[in-house]
Amino acid sequence: MNRLTVLSVVTASLLLIGCGQNKQADTATKAEPAKTEVASTPAKSETIAEKATKAVNAVKESASNVVAKTAEVAKEATKEVTEKATKAVEATKEVATKAVEKTKDVVANATAPKAPAQFAKCAGCHGKDAKMKALGKSNIIAGQPKADLVKKIKEYQAGTRNVTGMGGLMKGQVAGLSDADIDAIATYVSSLKK
Ligand code: HEC
Repeated sequence: MNRLTVLSVVTASLLLIGCGQNKQADTATKAEPAKTEVASTPAKSETIAEKATKAVNAVKESASNVVAKTAEVAKEATKEVTEKATKAVEATKEVATKAVEKTKDVVANATAPKAPAQFAKCAGCHGKDAKMKALGKSNIIAGQPKADLVKKIKEYQAGTRNVTGMGGLMKGQVAGLSDADIDAIATYVSSLKK
């Protein structure tokens, strides 16, 4: 081959290669935007759908959270109100019970027979309510019939009564009492409950 031939062949080859490359590149360049377009459209719509689903789910979730929270708060509030109401009812009951007791006391005190002054010295041995066994020996005199009490006291005055060997002691206790004193004492002592 002479020089010219070689040159021609090389040139032709270069041209061929160049054209081919250009053509390929061209095709690729043209194809690419189309591909991108085709690929991006479903991708975009998928993203929107996904976003929408996510948003709906988020709304659902927060709504159910709100419902759950509201139910919880309502339950707590109900519990608290019930507890407070129960306590208030209990407190009221207590106050009412105390008031009733106090009223009973007041009524009892108002209606209770008043001890005559002459009974004061008897209380030392027979007790404030005449419910004690005097010196651990005597009968309880509270609630005994008035007539019995009058009779017994008069017997002690006369020195004719001695049940436990303490008749002498009782004689000294009732010595100065008038019939009126004895009546007042007997009335009071017989009115007391046994
Ligand atoms: C120091 C303690 C003492 C004092 C104070 C006293 N008594 Fe007595 N009393 C006795 C004793 C002890 C007897 C039991 C006497 C006996 O053995 O019979 C008794 C008995 C009696 C009885 C008889 C009870 C029964 O059913 O057998 C009467 C009623 C009574 N006393 C009334 C009085 C009166 C009223 C007074 C106050 C004015 C009085 N006593 C003060 C100690 C006392």
